[in-house]
Amino acid sequence: MANEQDRIIIFDTTLRDGEQSPGATLNVDEKLTIAKALARLGVDVIEAGFPRASTGDFEAVQKIADQVGTENGPTICGLARATKEDIRQAAEAVKPAAKGRIHTFIATSDIHLEHKLRKSRQDVLAIIPEMVGYAKSLINDIEFSPEDAGRSDPEFLYQVLEVAIAAGATTVNIPDTVGYTTPEEFGALIRGIKENVPNIDQAIISVHGHNDLGLAVANFLSAVQNGARQLECTINGIGERAGNAALEELVMALYVRRGFYNPFLGRPAESTEPLCNIDTTQIYKTSRLVSNLTGMLVQPNKAIVGANAFAHESGIHQDGVLKHRLTYEIMDAKSIGLTKNLIVLGKHSGRHAFRDRLQTLGYDLSETDLNKAFLRFKDLADKKKEIGDLDLEAIVNDETQHVPELFHLELVQVSCGDRARPTATVTLRTPQGEELTDAAIGTGPVDAVYKAINRVVNIPNELIEYSVKSVTEGIDAMGEVTIRLRHEGRTFSGHAANTDIIVASARAYISALNRLSATLNQTQNPIHPQAAALA
Ligand code: KIV
Ligand code: ZN
Repeated sequence: MANEQDRIIIFDTTLRDGEQSPGATLNVDEKLTIAKALARLGVDVIEAGFPRASTGDFEAVQKIADQVGTENGPTICGLARATKEDIRQAAEAVKPAAKGRIHTFIATSDIHLEHKLRKSRQDVLAIIPEMVGYAKSLINDIEFSPEDAGRSDPEFLYQVLEVAIAAGATTVNIPDTVGYTTPEEFGALIRGIKENVPNIDQAIISVHGHNDLGLAVANFLSAVQNGARQLECTINGIGERAGNAALEELVMALYVRRGFYNPFLGRPAESTEPLCNIDTTQIYKTSRLVSNLTGMLVQPNKAIVGANAFAHESGIHQDGVLKHRLTYEIMDAKSIGLTKNLIVLGKHSGRHAFRDRLQTLGYDLSETDLNKAFLRFKDLADKKKEIGDLDLEAIVNDETQHVPELFHLELVQVSCGDRARPTATVTLRTPQGEELTDAAIGTGPVDAVYKAINRVVNIPNELIEYSVKSVTEGIDAMGEVTIRLRHEGRTFSGHAANTDIIVASARAYISALNRLSATLNQTQNPIHPQAAALA
């Protein structure tokens, strides 16, 4: 039996670093929904946000700590720059959790010291014990990160880590902030830390990395071979710029190649004990949820969760797979929870059957959400003969969106065709119950609808991404529309599903506009965690 050090801790930062992707902004309810899914997935630590960023971020971390950070649930972590106010707010936000953690960081590469912090190495060596010590006075579980460790002088890094551990850090996280290192270099960095930081046995070594060169997952696996025991990752690899290391890729590499990694964790190669606590069958569902709520689409050829990852299109492959699955498949689609869209419900299915199936799928909806979803299901059942799990998921994801509805779509009507000028009429309802109608002509039906909506809403914006894909196979399938729009340099996303893609397009656009309006109503601009702290 391997000891506790000898398993991999999965630290999920979808709600913090992932949410730093342009346009991936989530509201408090959406963050809570994702946090619950992450707990079902079995992550050990949820980095729930950067509480100092804004009152909304603080509230989200606090709510997650309260509702998801239960005795048997994950540790809930709040990020803090190395300042007293950041640390105080992080401690306060994670307080309701049974297990709370503060993750504090300061940059250590010369380039960051000179141009961002304008501090000397000596300054940083003095700040770390003061701030880690302060964090330790508030909470026991402290993680410390030397930002841009991948480009920091290793000798200086060893000193930094030693003082952080001496001041009380129980996890030291090594970020490749700009995704610059290669697997050999990153592995050597971890090995160097193990060999040169005198008190390293008093802390867990963690890794954090960005995917600018597409190397984040390879770097992490090399780090595991050299002693890293916590991996900081995000669902679908979302995050700043090219994103973070993808949770699903790391977990499935450790799962499929357990025999290879076992010895690095002090186990016999043939040990069948899982390397981490993740329930892999939750991966696909969690991936879809995060994609739908953040508006960050998953590319079809994305490893593990892409639409093509388990599709065996070419004749030769199909033949091989039919004869023996292992000829071309290294893992079973079922291991990530990807089952055939089994026909589970139909027109005559009742509320009970509907609720039961949702519970089996892991959705525990409030009465209000269940009612809304059931009405949508009945409506869909009138149009589509057979309804499977993927349809149910699309309905639930659609109906349980918690974007404050400033504008509600009452009606959308289009006329188009090869002899017609695409024309749309829309009616939107405001929270005061006022119905506003307008019409427009466009280059196509979606353009006409969006122009008509813009005439009503009157908030300048630019559509920067529009995508439609079908939820299932079949001519009667629902279409899922995801859009991203820009307003004054900020990006907002919207998502909707419907058998009519014009309706889905209109609803997705309104959802993004509602997000935008909610932000316009905020008085405070969120602080970016990697901006230099003022105090
Ligand atoms: O990429 C990075 O360095 C970070 C730190 C805040 C850990 O996200
Ligand atoms: Zn990061």
